[in-house]
Amino acid sequence: MIRVVSRYPLMTVRVLCVCLGNICRSPIAEGILRRQAVECGLELEIDSAGTGDWHVGDRPDPRAIRAGEACGCQMTMVACQIRSSDFEEFDWILAMDHSNLQNLYRWPESKPEKVHLIRSFDLSASSTEVPDPYYGTYADFEEVVDMLESACRGFLRHIAAQPPEDY
Ligand code: 4NP
Repeated sequence: MIRVVSRYPLMTVRVLCVCLGNICRSPIAEGILRRQAVECGLELEIDSAGTGDWHVGDRPDPRAIRAGEACGCQMTMVACQIRSSDFEEFDWILAMDHSNLQNLYRWPESKPEKVHLIRSFDLSASSTEVPDPYYGTYADFEEVVDMLESACRGFLRHIAAQPPEDY
């Protein structure tokens, strides 16, 4: 666990985790980031969304609920699709893979400077992507959890060191 205390407690940083369907990776990322932020005393607003609309209104995939709950996350979210206004409302938009990243760059009213690969904050990661586990097994979801635990820790370390002018 990292022990950082926000140097700017009056600022709420807003973070949106994004994948394709918003039923597997980004809800797990949302849950882990929320849990880690509480653990290290950072006040963040955290949400997630998909670039696609096929699963809007759905609960996370049952394997994502099981894997997220197994690592201490609340998995009560409901899927939604990203909206152009999200680029205004969120400070950080964290994509799971390069395809998500390209979709976000091309989105109407995108703000590319806010869009990052979540794994780029894990300096020890062997890849910059969180692979899509949808057609995989439960073990693939467990791997996603491991990747996101490291990536979210790296992200929280990164923003804890950001000066306030950046927001
Ligand atoms: P996610 O996974 O992007 O991590 O939520 C997927 C969920 C659904 C589909 C693809 C990926 N789908 O094709 O319906």
